[in-house]
Order: sequence, then C-alpha cells, then structure tokens
Amino acid sequence: MPSNQKKTNNANAELYNPPSQVVSQANVKEYEKLYQLSLDDPSGFWGERAEELEWFAPWNKVIDDSRKPFYQWFVGGKTNIVHNALDRHLKTARKNKVALIWEGEPGDTRMYSYFSLNREVCKFANVLKSLGVKKGDIVTIYLPRIPEQVITMLACAKIGAAHSVVYGGFSVEALAERIEDAQSRVLITADGGWIRGNIVKLKDITDEAVARQPTIETCIVIRRTGQEINMESGRDYWYHDLMGLPIAAPNCPTEPMDAEDLLFILYTSGTTGRPKGIVHTHGGYMVYTYTTLKYVFDIKDEDRWWCAADPGWITGHSYIVYSPLLNGATSFMYEGALNYPYPNRWWQLVEKYGITILYTAPTAIRGLMRFGDAWPNRHDLTSLRLLGSVGEPINPEAWRWYHTVIGKGNCPIMDTWWQTETGGFMITPLPITPLKPGSATKPFFGIEVDVVDEDGKTVTDGDEGFLVVKRPWPGMLRTLYKDPDRYKEQYWGKFKGMYQTGDSARRDADGYVWVIGRIDDVIKVSGYRLGTAEVESALVSHPDVTEAAAIGLPHELKGNAIHTYVILRAGLEGNDKLVEILKEHVGHELGPIAKPESITFVSSLPKTRSGKIMRRLLRARALGQPEGDISTLED
Ligand code: WT7
Repeated sequence: MPSNQKKTNNANAELYNPPSQVVSQANVKEYEKLYQLSLDDPSGFWGERAEELEWFAPWNKVIDDSRKPFYQWFVGGKTNIVHNALDRHLKTARKNKVALIWEGEPGDTRMYSYFSLNREVCKFANVLKSLGVKKGDIVTIYLPRIPEQVITMLACAKIGAAHSVVYGGFSVEALAERIEDAQSRVLITADGGWIRGNIVKLKDITDEAVARQPTIETCIVIRRTGQEINMESGRDYWYHDLMGLPIAAPNCPTEPMDAEDLLFILYTSGTTGRPKGIVHTHGGYMVYTYTTLKYVFDIKDEDRWWCAADPGWITGHSYIVYSPLLNGATSFMYEGALNYPYPNRWWQLVEKYGITILYTAPTAIRGLMRFGDAWPNRHDLTSLRLLGSVGEPINPEAWRWYHTVIGKGNCPIMDTWWQTETGGFMITPLPITPLKPGSATKPFFGIEVDVVDEDGKTVTDGDEGFLVVKRPWPGMLRTLYKDPDRYKEQYWGKFKGMYQTGDSARRDADGYVWVIGRIDDVIKVSGYRLGTAEVESALVSHPDVTEAAAIGLPHELKGNAIHTYVILRAGLEGNDKLVEILKEHVGHELGPIAKPESITFVSSLPKTRSGKIMRRLLRARALGQPEGDISTLED
C-alpha cells in the first residue's frame, strides 16, 4: 500500500490556460457535459464513435458484460482494423495523401502515400499467405524502427493473423520467451538497426533466440544495415527477394473479422514471473484508439503527427501504426537516437518536416533539456501546435522547459496516462483543458477512475491511494494470452468490480489526477516497463549467481534506475570485473535498457517467512527511509 499518505493538495498548483488559437479549432469544445453523457449512456456514446468507421456487418450489442470481467464490445459486428486504416481511404481523396514519412538515422528518407502503403501491405500479406500463415496464427516481429515494422504488422492484421511485436531493444532471452509463449512459426526481423551510428545485430540475436525456441520454421529478413549475416538455407529468406516474386501480388482481400477476434498480443512486464501476453482485438481497440487520438491530439487532415515512441511498445502500436491511419493522418517516424549526430537532431526534424504535434516521453525531454536551449533555439519550431507526454509522471521542471523552450508557450502539453493493457489514453487533458504541470488532469470520455484505499473505498481528496478504473472501456485488454485466470486475478481480483492499474495516485480538489507511480514490482526505466523478476532471472541465469533482487530507485534522467543485489556461488568473491560481466550478461539476455545501474554483492537478502524477497525493505534502506512493518521478516 502507498506508504507516505502526505496531504498535499495540488488544487492550487500553477494553472496554464490553453491559448485561444488552439481552443478555437479543437475537435472537442466542451468536456464536462460530454463526459457526463459518455457515462450516462456508454452504449450510445461508443456506438456513435464506432459508426464513424466502416463495418462489414453491424454489431447487435455495444457492451456485453454477461461474462465479466471478460467484457466484450461491438458483439456480432464484423470489421477489420486494416479496412479502416487503409482500404477505406483508397475510395477517397486521401488515396494520394502522405500516410507515412520516415527518416533513418543515417539520413535516408522514405515516404508512403495511403495508396503506396496499401500496395506494400497487400504484397506482404500475399507473401505471408504463401507461407501458409492464416487467420489465428501469431507472427513474431522483431525489427528496428523502419517502415517495414508498420507494413508487416498491417499485413498480418489484414489476413486475420495476429502479430506479436518484440521491441528491437530487447535481446535473446526476452525474444525467445515471447516466441515460445506465442508458438510462432514465422518470424520477421532485419539484419540490423542503426543506433548512434552503430549496428544492433538483430539477426545474430534472432539466431540465438531461435536456437533456444525452435518453433520458428521461417524467418524473413529485411536488409537494413547491409553487413554479412548468417542466412540459414530453408529457414531464412530475404524480404526483398520474397517481395519480388510473382506471389507478392499488389492486391489482397481484407479478411472480415469478428469485432472480438484477436488483433495482436503484446508482452509486458508484470508483478511476477514471465511477461504477460496482453490481448487486444479488432473492434474495440480500433474504436478506442481512433477516438482518443482524434479528440486528445485534435488530429486534422493537414497535421503532421510525430509519435516518437517505438512501434515495439503499445504507444507505437496505437499511436504510430493504427490510430494515425484510422484517422487518415500523416505520420512521421524516425529510426535512431535523439542526439545523433548532434543534440539538435529532433529539432531539425521538426523544422524539416513541419511537425505540428510531437508526442514523446519525459525521459526524452529531460535528456534533451540537459543539452541546453541553444540546440532547439537554432531551429524554427513554430509549426508545432500541440505537445504530448507519456510513460511516467513528468516532473514540473521538464514540463516547463518543454512548454517554454519547445512550445514557445503556445502549445498545450497533453500528459496522457495509460497502459499496455488499456489500449489507449485513459487520463488525459484535451486541447481545451487548463493544465497543471505534472498532472494528467481528468479521465477521457467513458472512463471512470477513482483513487481508493485498501478496502476499495474512495480516499479523501489529496490522499494517496490505489488508482482504479470502475467500468469497462472499448480499448481494454480482453485477457492474458493463454492465462485467463491470471487476467482475472491480476486486474480484477483485488477490488470487486474495479480494474486495478498497479499505480498509486492522488486526486486534488479540482478533480485532477496526479499519478505517482507503480506500487507493484514493475519498474519504469526511461519510460520502459520492466519487471524486477525478469531482471532477477536474467542475473540468476549466469552461472556465478545463486540469488538476486532488483529494485527501482529514482534517477534524474531515467525516472527510475534498476539497482540489484546479488548472492554469488559459494567461494566466489565479487569485484568490479564481475560487476561488468553481470551487467553485460543482463544486457545480452534481456536488452540494454535492462542493464542494472548498480550491482551490490551481498551474503543474504531480506525475505519473508514464506521466502519472498522484501524489495520494499531494500528500497527503504537504499533511500534511507523508515523500514516500516518488518514483522514478517524471516531473519
Ligand atoms: C505505466 C504503464 C506507453 C504507453 C503507456 C505506457 C506509467 C504511463 C503515464 C503518465 C504517469 C504514466 C504508469 C502506468 N505511465 N503514462 N502520463 N503519467 N505515469 O505503457 O509500458 O504499459 O506502462 O506507465 O505507471 O501504469 P506501459
């Protein structure tokens, strides 16, 4: 339970009113009334949103709660998210509109209209079909931030196959585990990806992972970095070779799907053990991501939207791939590091492509702020209209810098709170909302949130408590892949009829929500979600380690950093060299983002009598805070 029940009431925090030129063109002009309506008549509200999109057959029920918490949306409806993201636009003038602009780290560029993006998607859909991929199969995608990431995801969805995208920054064991859980037969990867002028050797990592998880029969490889790689005959094929075959015809019918059919699985870190496969579907996820982007970021035909996330995380799935296309928008995507070759790279991109909306994470903002104002000030950033933030609470100092130096005081910041599980924004301002730096403000339409105590009772305004959601919404996860019991227990088990977010929060007297952070064993490092258990098992997989504990501690740039405590095999002694070896080992198994900040060698770990590591106690000690209740401590 949240420990420091401090009574801070942020009702009087500084308030930023949105500028009139933003308000006057906002897609939504009034919040309170529409919010109330969305709660009073959820079927009416969501039904109307869904009608803005095309369906092969209408739904007969908007919400079905007969098997809760396994809620269903738009039951009986038939559609395909790709029909609405691509096919639908080809019948209109949008056909020739730019859908995707991409720049690689080395400076190469590509541009796709809706017409040409659809052509690539159709061709690759036919390739997948020729490999025997069919409705219900799960294809694993492990790529750098290149257009093929978007193309291959859409091609899967188009033919009714599900994708499981593994973030290109993950490594061998993370990839192997996800392949195994999904039992994928087909994997899509690249020879490598560019980051800071170096090559991330994705194919080498893939080979190692596939050796551990041999369900993969076919591996399709995109040539990106061009170095020599191992190609195993009969298993590995070049993407460009396949796309050059007659089988890769430029037309392919879009498979009609039930609203509740599987669209994708995305693995995310949970409290214990292995990553959880979050399940999203064609109908509800489509309606929810479409509506949230349209209302929150005020997407217009003339916008140039840049979501600077990676498609390998939910932010990219929802707001690089699906929602911008559902809205017929023009998206920009950049492959590489934000300070490469110089710290003005992002600002140069904003100027060069006339970006109107920039959506990124606090850690990136802090990272760029550190280089000083001169870098952004060299560029014309006046194309910007709105800014966005996601992934962790944004500290007011970073907020103000973003607002003043990047937005020149003219661009409201949409601080969007949401999760892999929620599909889209949940607590967020609209362009018309008066802002308080550090608060994600108020719930989106149809979303009822609360801050409750251990018994599920609403806490007094200003008090810290558990952040919960009190009713279903279309973009919610449907279950955990192959583990419905864990879904029920993890999200709906703690408080009756409420979805438990895993975050703590406070609400101020104005009804603004201030998210504080995770209260479970999830650590947000630079906005990336990692589980203590994953880091611990990566450490323990090293032959010198018998036990390990990982905790998150505050870090100026990353928000949180991973600190670990390690018990070595008897007779071994820890030293600096071993620290480096173990950090490298975690990097190799899980990925660079999971590398611990520190490794401390210890002879024992604090545990409860039932043998659970008391990470709370480790944290309290590391921070020099009171140790709290230690009555369950074994020793
Ligand atoms: C966790 C979910 C990338 C999409 C969201 C991340 C934290 C997210 C905010 C925010 C404060 C935030 C929460 C949440 N979080 N956005 N605006 N303010 N905290 O998805 O990787 O599933 O992580 O990110 O702790 O539970 P995710």
